[in-house]
Formats: sequence, C-alpha cells, structure tokens
Amino acid sequence: MENPIFLLASILFSCWVATCYGVTFSSLQNQKTLVVTTSPQTGQVLKAGQDSITVTWSLNTTFPSGTDSDYKTVIVKICYAPVSQKDRGWRKTVDDLKKDKTCLRDIVSQPYKPSGNTFTWKVARDVPTATYFVRAYAENSAQVKVAFGQSTDSNKNTNLFQIQAISGRHVSLDISAICFSVFSILSLFGFFFMEKRKSKASEQK
Ligand SMILES: *[C@@H]1O[C@H](CO)[C@@H](O)[C@H](O)[C@H]1NC(C)=O
Repeated sequence: MENPIFLLASILFSCWVATCYGVTFSSLQNQKTLVVTTSPQTGQVLKAGQDSITVTWSLNTTFPSGTDSDYKTVIVKICYAPVSQKDRGWRKTVDDLKKDKTCLRDIVSQPYKPSGNTFTWKVARDVPTATYFVRAYAENSAQVKVAFGQSTDSNKNTNLFQIQAISGRHVSLDISAICFSVFSILSLFGFFFMEKRKSKASEQK
C-alpha cells in the first residue's frame, strides 16, 4: 500500500538524516579506514611560510574490499593537538563535525584513490604557532563525511609536530614592503599629475 503521508514522512526523515542532522566524529570511529602519515619528525618545528609537510594517505587494506565503494573525495586538514586547544574555546573539539574547531584549515581536497596519494604542502604564512596533526576525511558523493584517518593516535598524542608562525621581524619586513609599494604607486600618480599640469600650462601659453 502506498500511503502518501508515509511517503512524505520518509522523505522528510531522510532529509533530516542526510542534511539537517550533522555527522558526528564519534559516529565515524568504526570507519577509521584511512592510513595517514606526515613527514615531520615528532616534535619537529616547522616555520610557517617557509617549510613544507608531505602527507600521504591510503586505504587501510585490513578493511574488507568494498569498504571504500562510496568514497568520492578526500579532504586533508591540519588540526590542533589538545595541548594547543587548552583554554582556547575557538579551537574546541565538538563531536558535531559542522561545529568542530579541531581542524584549522584544509591542506588539500582530491578525488579519492585507495593508494598512491602524496601531497606536499608549504605551510601557509597565516598558520598560527601551535602543535598539530593531520586528519583526512573521506566524503561520499553527497559531501557527507563517511570515513577518516589521522596521523596521530586516538588520544591525539603521538606524531605531533609544531608550526612556528612568521616572526615579528618578518611581519615588519612585510609591512615596510607594503609601505614602499603604496609609496611608489602614490609617487607614480604624483608624477602623472605633475606632467599633466605642466602640459596644460604649456598649452595655455
Ligand atoms: C588498519 O586497521 C586495523 C583495524 O582497525 C588496525 O588494527 C591497524 O592498526 C590499521 N593499520 C594501520 C597501518 O593503521
């Protein structure tokens, strides 16, 4: 029997499951199927804007074949270790992944492949000083996270590395570079107007 009300209810329910209700990190714990490694040694300090991280990821082959049949995209993120989240509400881990602040930003997003994935990322200049690890999420074609992997253990204590933000000296160099650029643009305009006025003056003679 096709009951239209039942049909409508089930459509609404699947909408609620798929989109209205966010995926939680705890719901992915049995789907830790990606093996993620990072190049820095434990505790190594990398300089933002200068040093690079190489990340590799692959499917953990101990999972039965077909585990990854709905994986479409892999999103690799750089994430705060607990030591750098302490007393910082804006980096808080929230189980609802839409609200989670553990991961600062995406390193790369690529179509899913079970193996042979390597990406070298030059640490962006605006990455703050902190201790980090790398996490990868697999998303299905509806952009719902269905699996993950990370370069650290479940307590986020092993294989951590540090990033040191650009030092004050570099920032002041940047600022003086900007000042010089603005100055040179202004002087260009200055010359342009002076030339214009000169030529106008000579025309009037
Ligand atoms: C692969 O998954 C199994 C089962 O979850 C786990 O015991 C093993 O450590 C994983 N292998 C790697 C390299 O992470």
